[in-house]
Amino acid sequence: MADISISNLIKTYPGGTERATDDVSLHIADGSFTVLLGPSGCGKTTLLRMLAGLELPDSGSISIGGRDVTYLPPNKRNISMVFQSYAVFPHRSVRYNIGFGLQMAKVAKEQIDKKVQWAADLLQLTPYLDRLPAQLSGGQRQRVAVARAIVVDADVLLMDEPLSNLDALLRLNFRSELKKIVQDLGTTTVYVTHDQSEALSLGDQVAVMRKGRIAQLGDPLDVYDAPSDRFVGGFIGSPPMNFVDAAVTPDGELVVGDQRLMAPSLLQSFGNHSIVLGVRAENVSVAKERASGHIAATVLVVEPMGSTILLTVDVEGQTLKVQAPPSFRTAPHQTIWLGFSPNTMRFYDRETSMALEAN
Ligand SMILES: Nc1ncnc2c1ncn2[C@@H]1O[C@H](COP(=O)(O)OP(=O)(O)OP(=O)(O)O)[C@@H](O)[C@H]1O
Ligand SMILES: [Mg+2]
Repeated sequence: MADISISNLIKTYPGGTERATDDVSLHIADGSFTVLLGPSGCGKTTLLRMLAGLELPDSGSISIGGRDVTYLPPNKRNISMVFQSYAVFPHRSVRYNIGFGLQMAKVAKEQIDKKVQWAADLLQLTPYLDRLPAQLSGGQRQRVAVARAIVVDADVLLMDEPLSNLDALLRLNFRSELKKIVQDLGTTTVYVTHDQSEALSLGDQVAVMRKGRIAQLGDPLDVYDAPSDRFVGGFIGSPPMNFVDAAVTPDGELVVGDQRLMAPSLLQSFGNHSIVLGVRAENVSVAKERASGHIAATVLVVEPMGSTILLTVDVEGQTLKVQAPPSFRTAPHQTIWLGFSPNTMRFYDRETSMALEAN
């Protein structure tokens, strides 16, 4: 069993004024794939490096498979890591680079050759085994770094933005390959990215980080559907979640500007409050004619995306992005009607930005 328990990890770098990780606690199940997601500087790499033993926390603890490893050196943790900069040895062959960890572990040469061949086949690197990294494309070099990490029989695989040096198409292809490889290996994996689509597609669980803290932890769909605060909703999803200033009347109706939306029954308990409505673009329906419970919007921008049309619209001075079917014909300045369904609406506190739970 190689589950990971992270408890109250606090880390400030020497000379740093802010905590790079600020009281992070997280449980990672054996064999699962956990993604650390967040904007640049939020502490993802720092957390991963503490798991690897490359940084020590100021306080808190890490255990892997029930064993406290907080202060153990990297080579005593049975982990394998792919670094943010792929860190291959430039003057050594691809074959040497892939087998490096096994050589360090004093594995027999025959066994090394076998495993290197296995990983090279898996990552389509066989034709390049005798080349130097400089003679490879960025994507191939990144594959070498992944191959090197997976040949080692580690309890835990740590990957820091392993797809960051790939162009968009390669990234997309390699992403699903990587998912398959890691699934087949069944190794507990912690994966760092600032790309929200990567996090949603790869993770069994996603930890969204902000300023050294975990803002939300959950399965990808939950994090996408029900962001725990406005930061998470604004960070995840393309386009990000819409946030609309709204008010709840004493009789539980939701009002945007002068327009009334149908009242979701859960809102009754908020009574007479200014709130923020959060709704995803694909959860707003569009109509050309006025319909009951719909509100009027003025079209600002029309962007055909192939499978949908993305509309930027104005509702009472607030801008929203909504999705229309490809057959929907509209143009800037036209009035359209937006419908909202209660079960896809989320509500946030205007002051704290935290999700509001109905009681
Ligand atoms: N070696 C270091 N010395 C001092 N401060 C550091 C060091 N490494 C990181 N930091 C600081 O710690 C904070 C967290 O950095 P970290 O590298 O963990 O972020 P990240 O989430 O991985 O960002 P990115 O997406 O840009 O890689 C940042 O404010 C960063 O400036
Ligand atoms: Mg980083």
